[in-house]
Amino acid sequence: MLLILLGAPGSGKGTIASELHKTYGLVHISTGDIFRANMKEGTALGLQAKTYIDKGDLVPDSITIGMLEDRISQPDCAKGFMLDGFPRTIPQAEALEGMLQTRSQKIDAVVRIDISDEEIRSRVSGRRVCSSCGESYNVDFRPPKTEGVCDVCGGPVIHRDDDKPETVMARLKTYHEKTQPLIDFYEKKGLILPADNEESSKIALSQIHAAFADKGLIS
Ligand code: AP5
Repeated sequence: MLLILLGAPGSGKGTIASELHKTYGLVHISTGDIFRANMKEGTALGLQAKTYIDKGDLVPDSITIGMLEDRISQPDCAKGFMLDGFPRTIPQAEALEGMLQTRSQKIDAVVRIDISDEEIRSRVSGRRVCSSCGESYNVDFRPPKTEGVCDVCGGPVIHRDDDKPETVMARLKTYHEKTQPLIDFYEKKGLILPADNEESSKIALSQIHAAFADKGLIS
């Protein structure tokens, strides 16, 4: 299966991806996680990305598209994958179509994660992430079993630098201007599957499983 998770910053893309990975074994590719891993290692790519991420801007397409193409060229992606945080602009979506065409692959579905900006601001203020494996937690809804320690890998659980309220506001503005037009782009292709994550990820996941079954993506 080839899936895109489309939603605002903090809408729950990572949380839902983690569940879909557990259920269907889908390879999870998060461009945000790739940038953060590079920032942590201090690579040239990471240093470049940090200047944009810290301001709540998008990393330029000229950097992001090549990075994504390298990742989906890895052998584990041959049978499909799930994209979290890519594409985020129309040029990224068009570039993805070109990449998939040369691989004789096609997008099966675009999961649109629905949630209000108000709920996002409240969730992101409580969000914590593992700086080793990227697992996402929330101090209010889903704390790690031991404070500050990742349940999955034992790594340190931290507050992301770009989760400061003023940066979250900037990220939401960027999303509405540059990423939201993708909803229309994929709606015209009949690929959108809505998932309501305002109340609980259980509701969103049950809608996703039902839509996969309806589309014949799972047996
Ligand atoms: P990225 O890491 O992709 O950040 P994002 O899109 O802003 O998304 P987040 O990771 O913040 O949130 P999420 O939707 O995964 O939500 P989560 O599951 O954690 O990108 C970071 C930056 O990198 C970007 O700002 C940009 O600069 C750059 N970048 C990345 N990709 C790029 C691209 N393609 N082009 C250019 N630049 C790019 O959930 C949020 C919180 O809510 C968590 O605490 C979670 O536990 C909680 N939660 C989730 N669901 C529920 C629920 N139903 N009920 C209660 N709590 C919930």
